[in-house]
Amino acid sequence: MLRGEGSLVGIFRLFVRKRMAVAAGCLAWQLVGCNSAIGVTPNIQVPANYRNWPPFIMNVDRATTSNPTVPPQIRDIYLNQAGTAVQEGEAFPDGTVFVMDVFGVQQDGSGNLQLDDNGHPMKDKLLKILLMGKELGWNAYRPALLSTGDWLYFAYQPDATTQITSGIDGCFDCHLTLSADVDWVFHYKDYFAARASAAVASP
Ligand code: HEC
Repeated sequence: MLRGEGSLVGIFRLFVRKRMAVAAGCLAWQLVGCNSAIGVTPNIQVPANYRNWPPFIMNVDRATTSNPTVPPQIRDIYLNQAGTAVQEGEAFPDGTVFVMDVFGVQQDGSGNLQLDDNGHPMKDKLLKILLMGKELGWNAYRPALLSTGDWLYFAYQPDATTQITSGIDGCFDCHLTLSADVDWVFHYKDYFAARASAAVASP
């Protein structure tokens, strides 16, 4: 019986410690709001069918790069159905997910770009899959000044299952060069221009 009481007390202590840890987390984040799930950072896996999603911007040509550490790339960006409900001038709705396929480009043995008949670089192997998604309150996982609204960023190897967890702060740094008026989304304006000309699906 004593042993039983002892373990109950142990469980209670554990419970209190857990609650205190959550409370401390909330205190640290009080300026940016507190989410009861703080401590469990959300994750988004690569959705199985994302290449059937509405295209956001396709064939973004990053074959010529001034940064020697970044290999030449071509990027395809998909937007999930929830995201297509966005109206121009507004932020993307909660539940929006972007998936970006990052491809290498075809080069000859000397590193010269191989061009198609129209003079465009051609996709090579998939290098990475990058995602960003938002849910209400996800900004609680970032210090206020370093958050891009409620967006969080995720990266995967081309196998779509091996997650890349290093370098995620760099995603915020670069997307932070944008601002709330485009919801920290590159090509925000291009998207609406394309949607107006019915080049991409609208809701
Ligand atoms: C050096 C700047 C830079 C860094 C670092 C960066 N991005 Fe981006 N990201 C861009 C640009 C620019 C685009 C738009 C595509 C283009 O024009 O190449 C983009 C687009 C995206 C998109 C498509 C939605 C949109 O805004 O157009 C996703 C998803 C994305 N990035 C995720 C990530 C993730 C995840 C990381 C970190 C692993 C990351 N990015 C790091 C510059 C950056």
